[in-house]
Amino acid sequence: MQTVPHSDRLQGPKLITPLPGPKAQALIDRDRAVTSSSYTRDYPLVVKRGEGCLIEDVDGNVFLDMTAGIAVAATGHAHPQVVQAINEQSQQLLHMCGADFYYEPMVQLAETLAAKAPFSQSAQGSKARVLFTNSGAESLEGALKLARYYTKRWRVIAFLGGFHGRTYGAMSLTGSKSVQCQGFGPLVPGVTHIPYGTHASLDYLEQTLFTSMLPPSDVAAIVVEAIQGEGGYIVPDDGFLPRLRDICDRHKILLIVDEVQSGMGRTGKLFAIEHWGVMPDIITVAKGIASGLPLGAVIARSEIMTWTPGSHASTFGGNPVACAAANTTLELLENGLMENAQKRGLQLQAGLTHLSSTYDCISLPRGKGLMVAIDICDEQGNPDPTARDRLLQDAFYRGLLLLGCGKASIRFCPPLVITAEQIEIALNILTEILKDYP
Ligand SMILES: Cc1ncc(COP(=O)(O)O)c(C=O)c1O
Repeated sequence: MQTVPHSDRLQGPKLITPLPGPKAQALIDRDRAVTSSSYTRDYPLVVKRGEGCLIEDVDGNVFLDMTAGIAVAATGHAHPQVVQAINEQSQQLLHMCGADFYYEPMVQLAETLAAKAPFSQSAQGSKARVLFTNSGAESLEGALKLARYYTKRWRVIAFLGGFHGRTYGAMSLTGSKSVQCQGFGPLVPGVTHIPYGTHASLDYLEQTLFTSMLPPSDVAAIVVEAIQGEGGYIVPDDGFLPRLRDICDRHKILLIVDEVQSGMGRTGKLFAIEHWGVMPDIITVAKGIASGLPLGAVIARSEIMTWTPGSHASTFGGNPVACAAANTTLELLENGLMENAQKRGLQLQAGLTHLSSTYDCISLPRGKGLMVAIDICDEQGNPDPTARDRLLQDAFYRGLLLLGCGKASIRFCPPLVITAEQIEIALNILTEILKDYP
């Protein structure tokens, strides 16, 4: 794919074998024998390489990627500037452990994240400090530990439908699917889940829970996704996030905003919480931050991240190659990709709105920027997970890569480099598929 001049470049799918092709099938057979049975693969895609929004499989079939490897490849697959940054850094230094030594890519990234974090300015100068991790879950673990350590309180409020990762702390905060916690108990104690996104839920918190069994003076933090990701790309009611901030202020509770999926420019702003003008105390990020290299971060207000040396760190967190990729990713986001996310998101939502007026089985779209979802419904208008799963398959067999989320939703989280033409191609494929739906 890489040698073709830009004007002649393929923009959409090109399928040349039945799916899965013979090489893909052989790899799937090998994989099944030796990898964990806990992995969930919706369809038989065996990837060889990626460029921009296109994925080529091992048999030479090309797919249009509306998943970005689950909202990770923010700058597109193998963005040349990110690859160059990785190459240059890897010739200098692969690892030295940023918890014990210093190197510039990590300092530079921390400076950028601290400067961009939507926090109030601290009296002590720098308004934020950053702890680096390797993943979203590890960022949530760090944030949870920091909140308990700083407040000396033990309870935490999280939300039904929320997803925060698979390690014990992150899993305990998660309220998404029962399969994610079934058989793993006991979980980390002290987490109370309430419904997400509505004022009724916060009335219940303040009027019932706080007065009966959950003294607010025991609560270290409220952990919330600015827009729920795995739970269905749910945008909260207006006023929900500002009200959470207010509750936290009144009870000296820390507001932890999980931006692992919604952050790094995906919604058209660096952090989705900026759409509501709310200033968190701690932000967790991962996924898109380094365009595919494993990296996460806990960004906290400076006066909160004052824990004792040795109290928390990670050997690989802040790896220099991952930091170099992240520094270039952030430059690309600021220099056009966040703007593209906003524009292409509007185009996508307009197209999906049109589709939903033609086909009863899909709902109106929701979301911000390139974090968009629709629900697939049955003839009575109820969520239809079976039809959703079928649609994911049908899209794959037409060369369009999509992912599910929530109960019966389809999410669109393409790389932020997606073009107007590629959005149209995706909408056309969906239209073709929907012609066969009730
Ligand atoms: C909002 C959110 N938080 C945390 C995580 C966990 O991230 P990871 O899989 O990198 O541990 C995810 C993963 O999907 C997520 O969407």
